[in-house]
Order: sequence, then structure tokens, then C-alpha cells
Amino acid sequence: MATDPVRWGIMSTAHIVRTSFLPALAATGDGEAYVVAGRDGARAEAFARQNGVKHSAEGYETLLEDDAVEAVYIPLPNSLHAEWTVAALRAGKPVLCEKPLSVSAEEARVVLSVATETGTPLWEAFVFPFHHQMNAVHGLIAHGRIGEIREVQATFHFELASRNDIRLSKELAGGALNDVGCYNVAVACQVFGGEPVDGMAVARWAPEQVDEAAAGVLRFSDERRLVLSCAMDLPQNTFARIIGTEGEIRLTNPYHPNETDSFELWRGDWSERFGSEQAEPSFAPALRHIHQVLRNREQPRHLAIDDAMPFVCGLELLHRSVRSSRLETA
Ligand SMILES: NC(=O)c1ccc[n+]([C@@H]2O[C@H](COP(=O)([O-])OP(=O)(O)OC[C@H]3O[C@@H](n4cnc5c(N)ncnc54)[C@H](OP(=O)(O)O)[C@@H]3O)[C@@H](O)[C@H]2O)c1
Repeated sequence: MATDPVRWGIMSTAHIVRTSFLPALAATGDGEAYVVAGRDGARAEAFARQNGVKHSAEGYETLLEDDAVEAVYIPLPNSLHAEWTVAALRAGKPVLCEKPLSVSAEEARVVLSVATETGTPLWEAFVFPFHHQMNAVHGLIAHGRIGEIREVQATFHFELASRNDIRLSKELAGGALNDVGCYNVAVACQVFGGEPVDGMAVARWAPEQVDEAAAGVLRFSDERRLVLSCAMDLPQNTFARIIGTEGEIRLTNPYHPNETDSFELWRGDWSERFGSEQAEPSFAPALRHIHQVLRNREQPRHLAIDDAMPFVCGLELLHRSVRSSRLETA
């Protein structure tokens, strides 16, 4: 069915806009990169020209004042997510905010209360719940193929290419837990469908005073647990295991699978392998869903008001633990 494309306003010239958001938007076929706003107007203008964005603007607020903008993507440094999400929601713009939604549970409560009060849809950019792969995994679990889930083991490692990166800035709320450990927590919250009750973690601290690597355990109710490892100083690895009383599911990449990724169902010595079936860019299914919601063709799924709080609380438990273990060893 032909339809007007949803016009996106993009807040900043962040790397992820070029590598992930724009290719996915193009793949959906029903969204338009309408305007990109940057702190520096000339840089935003060059970015728009080089990346096929229709317009550019100086200053993030300019984008919120533009009546033509129908949805806002916020890929700012972590410390700015809450502030600009609140501003966009108050301007009546539906928002896709990068993860993590906020740097504390307290800040998340404020953001979610504004989303509730304004009735404006807000999504946090965990796009994996929209993938075929995650739906298939939920199907296996729902059909009892691994029994009762007891443990999720989740790893997200990668190597930072440069020391000049927002991920190493304490002021901008960098660190491995915020950058990739958050994925480990989010997948466990999705699989367990509940809230973490306590957590313990240790970190390796970078000279820049952020956690460059961290590992820990997050306990959910009914003694379910997430065992996680996240690092910005190790070779790329996103392996995860969902372990139940009768078997387990092993995923090569739960978060951003491509066509070569797969997941396996193991029961004793027997196993079956499934392809991820993720042929399009990772963000595409989530963006397509948002477009359908904004055109009143689908009911919203995975809104931040429904999904974010258990995740934010889990991340905060881990942060508290790494901070206190650091004080103890200082
Ligand atoms: N969901 C995912 O798969 C995924 C993947 C990668 C990253 N991310 C998230 O996306 C966000 C951006 O990551 P990125 O690697 O793309 O970041 P990046 O390239 O460093 O871009 C961040 C942008 O924020 C703007 N900015 C505003 N204040 C800033 C400040 N004080 N210092 C630096 N930049 C500032 C800058 O744009 P202007 O100068 O143009 O205003 C900059 O281009 C992060 O929250 C990250 O966690 C998500």
C-alpha cells in the first residue's frame, strides 16, 4: 500500500546514523531522512549532503521546532539521552532514543513519566526484539523446548578503535556497561520477562575513569540469573546461551545478527541449527514497526514505558556494585 514516508529528524551526525540508521531506513522503503541537526551547522550540512539527508539544521532544538518532523532519532552521547528525549516528547515528537535510555533509574522514571503524560510513543533503540530470530527463540522457550529457564550467559566484547571516543568519557557516561553490557542486561530482561533483584560486578578501569571491561551476575526473581561479560578491549564476540532445565539455546549474535548468524537448540547431545534469517540491516524491522504505528496500522510494541524500567534498574545494580568494589580495592 503506497503511503507518505515518515519524515525523520536526526539529532546529531553520530557515526551510528551513517552505519546503521540510514541504511536501515532506506531498506524499510517507508521512511525518509528528512533533516539532520548538529551542534555545528556546517558539519550537519556536509553530513546531510554526503549521506542523502534532505535538510540540515544547526542546533538540536531547531529540529524539534520543525512541524514537518514526524519522528526523532536520538543518537547522542549517553549523558544527553534523557534531556533530549524529554525535550522531544514535550514537543510532541515520537522518539527512538539510543540505548541506554538514561544514566540512572531516577532519570529513567522522569523520562517515562513524560512519555506517559504526553502520550507520545518512545522506543529505546534495542532493535533485537523486533528480529525474526528473537521471535523464534521466544517460540522455542514458550513451547518448553529447553524446560524452565534458569540462566542466561551473555557476552558483548569489542575493541575500541581509538582512545578519542565518547565511550571513554566519564562526563558523557561512557564505559563498557553502558555501551555493551546494557545489551546483556536487556536480553536477560526480555527472556526472563521480569525485574532483577540484585547484582554483583567487577570492572577493569580505564585511565579515563570509566569501566573498560566488566563482568558480573544479575539475579532475577525465582533464582534466575544473568552471567555477563562486557568489554571494549577484547576481540569482537556476542555469544549468548539461554540455559534451561532440559536444554539450551546458543546464539552467535542475539543483538545485531546478519545472515551468517545462527542459533542452535541443544537437548543433551542432540542439536538443531536455525539461521537468523536477518537479511536486512539490523534496525530495519524496528523502524518499519515505528512507521506502521505512526500511520495507525499497528499497535505499538516494545515501548520504553513497558520495557525500559527492569533494564535500567538492572544496569544500575551493576553500576553500584562496580563502584563499591572499586572503593573497596582502592
Ligand atoms: N543501538 C545500537 O546498535 C548502537 C550502536 C552504536 C552506538 N549506539 C549508541 O548511539 C549513540 C552514539 O554513538 P556513536 O558511536 O555513533 O557516537 P559518535 O559518533 O561519537 O556521535 C555522537 C554525536 O553526538 C553529538 N554530540 C553532542 N554533544 C557531544 C559531546 N559533548 N561530545 C561528543 N559528541 C557530542 C555529536 O554530533 P554533532 O556534533 O553533529 O551534534 C556526535 O557526532 C550512543 O548512545 C551509543 O550508545 C547504539
